[in-house]
Amino acid sequence: MVGADRYVIVVFQGSARPWSVLRDVDELASVNGTIGPAEEMTIPVTDDGLLRGDGVFEVARLYGGRPYAWDEHLERLQRSAANVRLEFDLDAAKAEVDALLARAGAGDGTIRLVITRGGRRIAILAPLPAHRPTTTLATVTYAPTRVLDAVKSLSYAANMLAGRMAAESGAGEALLVTPHGRVLEAPTSAFFYVLDGRLHTPPLADHILDSITRRHVLELTGATARVLHRDQLAELEEAFLASTTREVQPVAAIDGRALPRAPGPHTVTAAEWLRQRIDAS
Ligand SMILES: Cc1ncc(COP(=O)(O)O)c(C=O)c1O
Repeated sequence: MVGADRYVIVVFQGSARPWSVLRDVDELASVNGTIGPAEEMTIPVTDDGLLRGDGVFEVARLYGGRPYAWDEHLERLQRSAANVRLEFDLDAAKAEVDALLARAGAGDGTIRLVITRGGRRIAILAPLPAHRPTTTLATVTYAPTRVLDAVKSLSYAANMLAGRMAAESGAGEALLVTPHGRVLEAPTSAFFYVLDGRLHTPPLADHILDSITRRHVLELTGATARVLHRDQLAELEEAFLASTTREVQPVAAIDGRALPRAPGPHTVTAAEWLRQRIDAS
């Protein structure tokens, strides 16, 4: 679809937002500085990034061609790489992303930066993935890999499988829950919930990803990190997913049980305050 003009209208609570009528970016990729159409770019099959999922990555969202919270994404990428003992040339990666962004114009979409064990720096421009205005969740039992704590690694097969398992039971997304019943996050997003009228999210101590959107929603809303047990899911008043590509996505039901409101007032406030911060950035 290189060169094609495509437009997306994001609908939230049933009304189109005027600022979200945007041109999608073209799908372009850079491999160690060489730029071309994403589907034509290649890496050697011997790269352990491919063979073993050994590498790290980040995805930032582009608003009018500019990546939101890019510094925070780069910081997390450096931490992830250091934790898995992966050295890479940060300055080269930044320059390569800038060169790719120069081709993005003022489009909406995502920029993905991948660092592989085989020494490749891969940057990919892509349109925003489609997300429904609200979603439903199905719980999936999941034990986070302790050794990959605080690492956004390429080893995402378990997360992807959890999403497929949720889809098989008719839900839009998985809600990961430990074998001991502690609610964690979704495969590619943080989880927020309202209990006793207050907004909470599971704590990082439960080995979930230090999501950048989660951080921003915590700062903006004053929500607190609090453990949630699966037995309490029936008591939730509201819930939403939060991530770079979703921003805030209301949850309408968990394991087939409808939540009282989707979106409820805490969800609407979180979505609006996050969008205001993004617009002001
Ligand atoms: C496991 C997991 N949790 C949460 C998130 C949300 O993180 P962020 O807000 O930084 O996009 C992601 C993003 O991909 C993720 O993979």
